[in-house]
Amino acid sequence: MMNVAIMGYGTIGSGVAEILEKNKEIIAGAVGQEVALKYVLDLREFPGSPVEDKIIHDFSVIEKDPDVQIVVETMGGLNPSYPYVKACLLAGKHVATSNKALVAAYGTELLQIARDKQVNFFFEASVGGGIPIIRPLYRCLMGERIQEITGILNGTTNFILTKMDNEGWTFDSALKEAQRLGYAERNPEADVEGHDTCRKIAILTAMATGKEVDYEEIYTEGITKISDTDFQYADRLGMSIKLFGSSRILPEGRVNAFVAPVMINKSHPLYMVSDVNNGILVKSNMLGETMYYGSGAGKLPTASAVVADIIDAAKHANRNVVMGWSSQKQEMAPMETNTFRYFIRVAGLPEEQIDGLMNFGPEEAITLEGKDEFAIISKPMLEADFKEAAASAKGLIKFIRVEP
Ligand code: HSE
Repeated sequence: MMNVAIMGYGTIGSGVAEILEKNKEIIAGAVGQEVALKYVLDLREFPGSPVEDKIIHDFSVIEKDPDVQIVVETMGGLNPSYPYVKACLLAGKHVATSNKALVAAYGTELLQIARDKQVNFFFEASVGGGIPIIRPLYRCLMGERIQEITGILNGTTNFILTKMDNEGWTFDSALKEAQRLGYAERNPEADVEGHDTCRKIAILTAMATGKEVDYEEIYTEGITKISDTDFQYADRLGMSIKLFGSSRILPEGRVNAFVAPVMINKSHPLYMVSDVNNGILVKSNMLGETMYYGSGAGKLPTASAVVADIIDAAKHANRNVVMGWSSQKQEMAPMETNTFRYFIRVAGLPEEQIDGLMNFGPEEAITLEGKDEFAIISKPMLEADFKEAAASAKGLIKFIRVEP
């Protein structure tokens, strides 16, 4: 029998406990022996819950129990998850986590400890919720050179943008609903300001390049400035607005990465990814494009990915599975070297303003009835050139990057 301890009985941790119980036989069949939940570490008591008799409050019980072979970390944040996970690996236990903040900040060190100790540090649930994406990158695509990863990686913001786009919801009511449904981070700023997506694209990039990616070097912009007027223009253009995390791995080895809201048209493979779903588009040199799609957040989808990691750890109980990245630093290219088209809103009338906008190479002016403004879409421009042109243009209200 293999024993599991769960650290953190919140949305995801309770989902893991539920799946371990409900799918007990399937899991035992996959592993070849029973996988039992021994402890649940939390500050709180859970009287009347199915894990009532497994609740403990002292981490050292898990650390010191040689019968606990696999530890699940679903606490979130860095403290105490980082010292606890490190201690578990050093004690020779496998760890499965859903915590992208932990993986993005300390993944390099934790992966190395796991290698040294011949255990596993798995984090399938840290990106894309229940969607298999980490494992495909190091198993199915291991013979490929990854050229680009572009994803809708945050369920909360995708849910908000979809409700604003399709049903005219306000930003605040959509965020509240996402929180009620258990999609949002404890601090929703991490979702709406793009920090969660930033950590996820950093993890995917590191998986693709095999090198450490510093998420602080990734240009990150959230969705808080996206308004109903932007969606009215998008609607007129037959487009939508999505929060992208994207990495292009340049042939010379540097990576162009960003997190930002982008306008995309109906032919984009990620256009149909709506609500809490995530979609990840991977381009690689032999296979071409592949898409990974499904539930990107929420209790059981995310817990399902954690359980898959538990099974993988149990099946490789005595050895480290080769995966992850080294401590070699991945060089990142500055945001200014990216090329986009730009959707630009301008105050005033097109006939009065258009001459001053020629640097953007506009094709047509898009107007909305009853508004004292219009919009253009620029030619493809280097971000650096766009910023320079925007600094001297008059009446610019805002811009949104446009993906082809
Ligand atoms: N807050 C995250 C999201 C949870 O909305 O995608 C899953 O990582």
